[in-house]
Amino acid sequence: MMEQDLLPINGTDYVEFYVGNAKQAAHYYQTAFGFQPLAYAGLETGSTDRTSYVLQQGKIRLMFTTALNPDSPVADHVKLHGDGVKVVALWVDDARFSFNETVERGAKPYMNPTVHNDQHGKVVLSGIHIYGDTVHVFVERRNYTGPFLPGYIKWEPEYRPLEVGLKYIDHMVGNVDWGQMNTWVDFYANVMGFKQLVSFDDNDISTEYTALMSKVMSNGNGYIKFPINEPAKGKKKSQIEEYIQFYKGSGVQHVAMATDNIVETVAELKKRGVEFLTVPDSYYDTVTARVGMIDEDLQTLAKMGVLIDRDDEGYLLQLFSKPVEDRPTLFYEIIQRKGAKSFGKGNFKALFESIEREQERRGTL
Ligand code: FE2
Repeated sequence: MMEQDLLPINGTDYVEFYVGNAKQAAHYYQTAFGFQPLAYAGLETGSTDRTSYVLQQGKIRLMFTTALNPDSPVADHVKLHGDGVKVVALWVDDARFSFNETVERGAKPYMNPTVHNDQHGKVVLSGIHIYGDTVHVFVERRNYTGPFLPGYIKWEPEYRPLEVGLKYIDHMVGNVDWGQMNTWVDFYANVMGFKQLVSFDDNDISTEYTALMSKVMSNGNGYIKFPINEPAKGKKKSQIEEYIQFYKGSGVQHVAMATDNIVETVAELKKRGVEFLTVPDSYYDTVTARVGMIDEDLQTLAKMGVLIDRDDEGYLLQLFSKPVEDRPTLFYEIIQRKGAKSFGKGNFKALFESIEREQERRGTL
């Protein structure tokens, strides 16, 4: 018998960032990451307290929202956390059901189910709190044909840099405070009906100095994957601790975006000024012994700094950006899967040593 999916989710609907200046953030994601203009809400559309820009590339929708007044929950969020992810919106068939089921199982309500209408139809939104000040919004859009959501108009600027080949969100990682990983693993299991895919402890993920623990939670159809990290005791301060210190609590650490051609995507991103972490050249001396034969030219990957890992089902190529704001908080992963369903465990050590070199420069190790 098929196991029943407690909370059917069709995919990630959008990710909303609360930022200090949405106009400039939107320009950065257009210019640097190739996101395309989709929708807008602001003073011109009757939104008097906030402005939002929505951008899309492949199936990835990002929204950047800024406050128009100091007495605003958006301004409060930015003051405390800096620019960061507020909403991880999930596309569902029934936003009332999603809200009622999760709240009944212990989720803290964020937004009661609300119907929003315009000439393009009807959307139902509801929401629950997750770790830190982050929330899930459930989006029911089966009776809606507009560009994004009611209240937003099409955003059609002349300036349109081309896409860079980003297709969908592969996974989104949350950093939670000391001792909270299992609390949130239990939340995703018991409240959201997710299953645990894998776990890493500090023996898997540690360098000479720093350590962390991680468990990966996935929803019924496997479209949504949320690794959850917690710092572990090391000789020095881990990147997770550094994040918690600067974000002032738990929050989204990185968004992994998938491409079908990581070499082309990364070449374009670098040309547009996106900065990536680097590993020593020696990484590529030993990588073939670890991962075996791959389709790509190793020299090209080495030149790009693309990392490689293999599991039972295939291999993956991945690369991590530096933080994209001045606080060392949110960053991006670019990933291309060639059969592998894992997350690059074989690269953790090289990667963390790279992050430690950055932390050393910031004086936060
Ligand atoms: Fe990742």
